[in-house]
Amino acid sequence: MNILITGGAGFIGSNFVYHWLGQEPVGRVVVLDALTYAGNRLSLPPDHPRVTFVRGDIRDHDLVLRLLRDHRIEGVAHFAAESHVDRSILGPETFLDTNALGTLRLLEACRAYLQDTGAPAGFRFHHVSTDEVYGSLNPDDPPFEETTPYAPNSPYAASKAASDHLVRAWHHTYGLATTITNCSNNYGPYHFPEKLIPLILVNILHGRPLPVYGDGQQVRDWLYVDDHCRGIELAIRKGVPGEVYNIGGNNERTNLEIVNTLCQLMADAFAMDPTLRERHPACPAARDLHPGTLITHVADRPGHDRRYAINAAKAKRELGYEPSETLQSGLAKTVEWYLRNQAWWTAVMDGSYREWIGKNYAER
Ligand code: NAD
Ligand code: DAU
Repeated sequence: MNILITGGAGFIGSNFVYHWLGQEPVGRVVVLDALTYAGNRLSLPPDHPRVTFVRGDIRDHDLVLRLLRDHRIEGVAHFAAESHVDRSILGPETFLDTNALGTLRLLEACRAYLQDTGAPAGFRFHHVSTDEVYGSLNPDDPPFEETTPYAPNSPYAASKAASDHLVRAWHHTYGLATTITNCSNNYGPYHFPEKLIPLILVNILHGRPLPVYGDGQQVRDWLYVDDHCRGIELAIRKGVPGEVYNIGGNNERTNLEIVNTLCQLMADAFAMDPTLRERHPACPAARDLHPGTLITHVADRPGHDRRYAINAAKAKRELGYEPSETLQSGLAKTVEWYLRNQAWWTAVMDGSYREWIGKNYAER
């Protein structure tokens, strides 16, 4: 399959590029990414004979149509988005522009492409979405199902809900063969350090405070990113056009539990490998990395969703999807990756990153 991967220089998109190359022995991989602050060429293979990288915007209809035609694309995996809830609270408009309008333009380019004589049969448009469209759960509520009514609470979630509705409508009205996956919180390599897990890891290594919003009792269902990529691949290969699949990790944890586990894993890594101290002299000694030493409770996120949880039974039943990493194994791999890839996270923490951190945390 020749595939177009939008947002392929971001966190999940880049992991998906590696995943797809490992699973699909033939076919072209075209990555379309605008390289916003969240996209990075360093997250992709530098030179790969089957990968073409194009810096460009999903809102550019002509560019997208040209790429679809020139590379005879048979499937689109759509990751490109503005993805950070806190940024959507401070500046919502970009989110609607990229996530809603961007998805609309992409769908329209695909529709135009499929009107070409000789366009590939079996074309698939896969949309990568989030569990946040379903809103927030109380502690005893059952997990989100595909039929849970939409109730997005943040500007980010609202913009993703809009994009999901557009994809649904393009299937229903124009017959575009679409699938959607709604997934829980991912973590793993190439995760931009504005999100909880990489931010905490980088702050530990710098000996900086670990900011926990509010009481830290908010619950997320954490999933190792390659498990998500496998779920997307299965949806592309086996999913029924027009269907939606929830993808999750069966790993509900409070934010405080996550932060404490990361401190513990980092302390263990330093205890096992004394050379780490030379590379990360600011990291607190293992004995000081016990829970609580660096944690700082800061003002809560406005409208903060209390709990997300996913029922992934449909994806298991119909696609054969199951996560393979436990939270402990996935987090251990992630800590190891951040310890070995300081060059990557140092490069992405540029001036605009520092500006964002200053702005977000100064207001708390
Ligand atoms: P990310 O912010 O790390 O990456 C987004 C990528 O999209 C970046 O490379 C950016 O440059 C690119 N991009 C942004 N605007 C663009 C545009 N107009 N044209 C082309 N490229 C553009 O995001 P992520 O965490 O990798 O998330 C990817 C997708 O998965 C998003 O749609 C997100 O809503 C969804 N999702 C994320 C998670 C998660 O935990 N991170 C969970 C469920 C779903
Ligand atoms: O649920 C899927 C969603 O997960 C994706 O759709 C989003 O793109 C992705 O960013 C993520 O959203 P969250 O808001 O859940 O992730 P984030 O890493 O920003 O925050 C996780 C939790 O940690 C959340 O309850 C807020 C909290 N938090 C976050 C930061 C950055 C803190 O307590 N302190 C922090 O400094």
